[in-house]
Amino acid sequence: MVKVVTCTAPVNIAVIKYWGKRNAALILPTNDSLSVTLSQDILHSKTTIAASPDFSHDRLWLNGKEEDITKNKRMHNCFRETRALRKQLEDSSAEPLEPLSTYPVHVCSENNFPTAAGLASSASGLAALVFTLARLFDLPTSTSDLSRIARQGSGSACRSLFGGFVAWEMGSRDDGADSLAVQVAPETHWPELQALICVVDDAKKGTSSTEGMQNTVATSPLLQHRIRDVVPERMRDMKKAILDRDFQTFAEITMRDSNQFHAVCLDTFPPIFYLNDVSRAIIRLIHEYNATSPDGRLKAAYTYDAGPNAVIYAPKQNMKEIIHLITRYFPGADFVDPYNFFPEGEVVG
Ligand code: DP6
Repeated sequence: MVKVVTCTAPVNIAVIKYWGKRNAALILPTNDSLSVTLSQDILHSKTTIAASPDFSHDRLWLNGKEEDITKNKRMHNCFRETRALRKQLEDSSAEPLEPLSTYPVHVCSENNFPTAAGLASSASGLAALVFTLARLFDLPTSTSDLSRIARQGSGSACRSLFGGFVAWEMGSRDDGADSLAVQVAPETHWPELQALICVVDDAKKGTSSTEGMQNTVATSPLLQHRIRDVVPERMRDMKKAILDRDFQTFAEITMRDSNQFHAVCLDTFPPIFYLNDVSRAIIRLIHEYNATSPDGRLKAAYTYDAGPNAVIYAPKQNMKEIIHLITRYFPGADFVDPYNFFPEGEVVG
């Protein structure tokens, strides 16, 4: 008997960044974070899992290439947790259930966008893995409970299990039981808000998020100020801005938080550089564009994760103008669709 399940999971882009772990093994963060989940139609990870008693051992293919699954501790955490839940189900069921918890699995996962180029590939990848395992094992687990498992695969993955606007509450317990994702508002809440992705460079980044944030925790005094004095208030204000569809506040916090995250990277010793000259030129362009607003209200916001690629959030009515501006200042720009921008004319996906 072979059981096969395929699922996809979307990318999320944080507007209040997660950067720092208080427990690296359980992936418990040093601050709350908040993200917007992007439409799956454009960027997603797709995972197929087959379970069979005839397989000899667990195997994994990432973007078509077989990887040594035994070396992937984070994936192993997700298998262990979901198999334990399946085992509980098998043990407590009145009807005999297929002993899926004991079957080896074959996992095949692919992204339709550049891996590790600061485009949240680990978030969608691990979210797709956990969601597919939950479906394979018929787990009656809630999405927030699944997010606790996805968190142990990659922190930001916990937010990709929900659509719309999602908070990852850091929690305070040592075992991580209260460190999970919750939906602040569904995707239908603010349909005028759109995201434009500018792929400045799709090469694999120099310093991984995992390694970078641990160096920041160990060496940056600015991170302590951010955790204690900045993020709690931003989380409150950002949630309210989202619920009120207040773009002015949303945009200002988004840009300030991206800037502070990169300042914290610079405050790490030795410093970590994720932005390049093109990223900085886009930041200047957005500020100049905002300065042209007749009523002084912000028209667009940028944010950057652990890489040089920009994500620009703006109300739908401004997107045409923004795309026009970017093509004017970056003449090589090529558009795959209104939400994607590839300067080298490269089509990804
Ligand atoms: C800058 O979730 O990739 O994108 O938990 O070590 O897997 P690990 O890190 P990861 O870090 C993401 C960092 C970020 C900000 C964010 O998404 O909140």
